[in-house]
Amino acid sequence: MITRLHLKTKDHSFMKIGHRGAAGYCPENTFASFKKALDLGVDYLELDIQMTKDGELVVIHDSTVNRTTNGKGKVKDFTLKEIQNLDAGSWFHSKFAGEKIPSLSEFLDEFAGKIGILLELKKPSLYPQIVEKTAEELMRRKLTSPDNQIIVQSFDRDSLKRFHKLLPSIPIGVLVKNAGVNIISNKELRSIASYVSYVNPKITMVNKRLIKRIHYHGLKTIIWTVKKKNDVTTLKNLQVEGIITDFPDLC
Ligand code: G3P
Ligand code: CA
Repeated sequence: MITRLHLKTKDHSFMKIGHRGAAGYCPENTFASFKKALDLGVDYLELDIQMTKDGELVVIHDSTVNRTTNGKGKVKDFTLKEIQNLDAGSWFHSKFAGEKIPSLSEFLDEFAGKIGILLELKKPSLYPQIVEKTAEELMRRKLTSPDNQIIVQSFDRDSLKRFHKLLPSIPIGVLVKNAGVNIISNKELRSIASYVSYVNPKITMVNKRLIKRIHYHGLKTIIWTVKKKNDVTTLKNLQVEGIITDFPDLC
């Protein structure tokens, strides 16, 4: 829970980012969810990337298919064809039966150029080539200019460093979620500023001082995952650059 500020909302523009699409309304990381987020006026779509047994990049949050499909097992043990035969919609509601796990390629075909993309490299340590393959896919499609509005983020700083070396023109975000007073030290902020544009903390860690320290180091910040209108107001007052939400109509 973040501390409320008793300030009037300032007219501050920020990025409204749909978490896994519009995960509060639709089965996360499916086309139904991404399209709903677009309908609700997001500036960016957030999505999670993992990799199949045959080296294909797929859009799914967990490293297993158990929670969000009718199948069981690890993502890395399915081929693309096998994983796309699963139903990724019915677990959420029967009206979404038949939604499938998109490949990154299908996602980019549909959404790149229409809307900003916040792409999370999920558990890169499980997938040795995920950094290179993601960079190759973006290069192949010439989606490497800042005009393409693509940001790549991860909890895994080594992978982000590697990604930055491959594609230095794409802004990088570091996700942070550790508890504690000095959640990310000034020393760490100085050190990551060489390859990072965004420091993206979990909302439970956010306070005025943290946002000030991030901004003081010349970095921007996107906060996740916002589910309450009060928190949207507070974060706007704190002048954060982006809000990731399951309910884009809150913003
Ligand atoms: O984009 C930030 C947020 O998505 C990170 O957490 O678990 O929802 O991927 P998670
Ligand atoms: Ca994510």
